[in-house]
Amino acid sequence: MPLLEIKNLTKKYNADTLALSDVNLTINEGEFVSVIGPSGAGKSTLLRCINRMIEASSGYILFDGVNVSTLSKNELRNLRTKIGMIFQHYNLVDRLSVIENILHGRLGYKNTFEGIFGIYNEEEKKSAFKIIEILGLKEQVYKRCDQLSGGQKQRVGIGRALIQKPRLMLCDEPIASLDPNASKIIMDHLRNISSKMGITCLVNLHQVNVALKYSDRIIGINSSKVVFDGAPSEMTSDIVYSIYGSEAEELDIDIGGRNAS
Ligand SMILES: Nc1ncnc2c1ncn2[C@@H]1O[C@H](COP(=O)(O)OP(=O)(O)OP(=O)(O)O)[C@@H](O)[C@H]1O
Ligand SMILES: [Mg+2]
Repeated sequence: MPLLEIKNLTKKYNADTLALSDVNLTINEGEFVSVIGPSGAGKSTLLRCINRMIEASSGYILFDGVNVSTLSKNELRNLRTKIGMIFQHYNLVDRLSVIENILHGRLGYKNTFEGIFGIYNEEEKKSAFKIIEILGLKEQVYKRCDQLSGGQKQRVGIGRALIQKPRLMLCDEPIASLDPNASKIIMDHLRNISSKMGITCLVNLHQVNVALKYSDRIIGINSSKVVFDGAPSEMTSDIVYSIYGSEAEELDIDIGGRNAS
């Protein structure tokens, strides 16, 4: 069974804005899938419909065989523990430390009392330190997040998602605010999360070259529709054009360079 099945998904924000139009996708467990397309194509809308941060207008989404659109409030809360989310602007609590921000990823599992008082058990703390080590944040554990670089902040964002023990990571432009060095570190971590931990990653990206280099599969969206769904090796300049239209000429895309590191 695929981890995620998206059927005839349509999202209309209002009469003039069709953000997703009859989108059909199947994503298997452990896959690393990038979503590319011009600004306004519908990439963020697609990601946000999956964990119901946005309600779809029609169609449905099966996560591990369960229809997410019919879930009760409690069931939805439970679903969201299995789906980690990473944002372009990190969405951390700046005045709190790295370890506190990472432990926040456990809040979805807690009752209000435990949540308010920040009560975490030994296993959760151990798990947080292990994740901090994997992400190379050991020197930063007790630093406030507003004292971190962008790349370090995004690693905290990844840590907060990982401690949820998710099956799926939704990453909305995770490297859009980072320089090339920090971007590489983040993409390498995401790739490892999928290859070594078996966690499925669905990543919105602006950079086609990055998508080509890291993905098992690329989904191209243009004006609310999926216009490409295939392996990086199947990408051609014609396909790039069908995804980006005239913008394609301004993109510096190296179709042959996808295996370069
Ligand atoms: N809350 C909203 N209300 C109304 N229209 C919206 C809303 N959010 C997005 N849209 C519109 O839906 C369409 C798709 O937006 P979306 O944010 O999904 O695009 P995107 O591919 O993520 O773009 P970008 O690359 O700029 O992040 C756009 O036309 C956008 O203006
Ligand atoms: Mg977006």
